[in-house]
Amino acid sequence: MAEANELYVCSVSDLGTRNRKRITVAARDIFIVKAGDQFYALDSFCYHAGGPLYNGDIEDLGGRTCMVCPWHKYKVCLNTGQNYYQSVDPHNLDKPPKWTAGEVRQRTHTVTVRDGNIYVTLSSCDGTLDSDHYNKHKEK
Ligand code: FES
Repeated sequence: MAEANELYVCSVSDLGTRNRKRITVAARDIFIVKAGDQFYALDSFCYHAGGPLYNGDIEDLGGRTCMVCPWHKYKVCLNTGQNYYQSVDPHNLDKPPKWTAGEVRQRTHTVTVRDGNIYVTLSSCDGTLDSDHYNKHKEK
């Protein structure tokens, strides 16, 4: 049974062999993904240009678990929604590139797994994130 603010999404077994499921919850397009033992929920479409982030590959990069967008290969940290990229010091190109977390661009949501069921509490953080543009269903 869902607690206050939690919305039922599906059962764990509904995630299927790719360990993910895209769904509309309260007029928002989100996806659930399981990576290792962790469950994550993010907006489905990529903050960059609306690509199908939910269909991306999962990669461990620089100690973070990321989703790689199929369209332009941007990396999104599954835990925080930050964009994640390799940066160099242009004044010291002998140093290897280092993984760097940028701003939060993709909205993440809270996942709760209880009795084999998955619930989501949609993010209530103030302000607008870049992914909002592609994931809120417009009222007709
Ligand atoms: S739309 Fe995702 S990287 Fe461009």
